[in-house]
Amino acid sequence: MIVTIDGPAGAGKSTVASRLAERLGFRYLDTGAMYRALTWLAMHEGIDLGEGQRLGELARESRVELDESGRVLIAGSDVTAAIRQSRIDRMVPVVARHPEVREVMRERQRELAELGDAVIEGRDIGTVVCPNADVKVYLVAERQVREQRRQTERPDIGADALATDLRARDDSDRARMQPAEDAEVIDTSDLDVENVVDRIEALVRARLVA
Ligand code: DC
Repeated sequence: MIVTIDGPAGAGKSTVASRLAERLGFRYLDTGAMYRALTWLAMHEGIDLGEGQRLGELARESRVELDESGRVLIAGSDVTAAIRQSRIDRMVPVVARHPEVREVMRERQRELAELGDAVIEGRDIGTVVCPNADVKVYLVAERQVREQRRQTERPDIGADALATDLRARDDSDRARMQPAEDAEVIDTSDLDVENVVDRIEALVRARLVA
């Protein structure tokens, strides 16, 4: 069974998706981490982030590995911590918008989905990567709540800079940020993680019974 969790930055996807995967005993796939790892590698190698074709080739040559313990590896480097830096937050949409990059990433994400039971989080998973997923969820939250959550994750950045970054990222991600028609939209602004996970788990159990 495939469960997709899409939505904008700060809507609670990672926390909810990893917790849900743990409860169900499914694999957890963070597709944002794949775009982040590629961005890290491109910056590390000094590649121009405007060069879609070159970045697509880089993605094909250097597969991102997501291991069971949540570590993210690319080109022999463990980038688990490095990809959460604010400089990556800022540059990842520039890399993720290239069709050449998305094509390689989506192929790889479909291969990972085909391995079986998984909770997959991202932006375009329910719409493009796994349109036949069994359960699709789209998480949203009020902007102010999303800013506060990001502030907790990135205490090194000032609130204003963070709000500007989040807005820029929303603008850039917007083209890929539509809920699938058959997705359950959940507003997490006033819900805690366990509540959200309970609701999605109920959808999964209902689907399993059906
Ligand atoms: O969820 P996140 O913040 O880790 O995602 C990082 C970036 O990658 C985000 O700006 C959007 C992009 N992304 C995407 O375009 N498609 C996905 N399936 C996942 C992430």
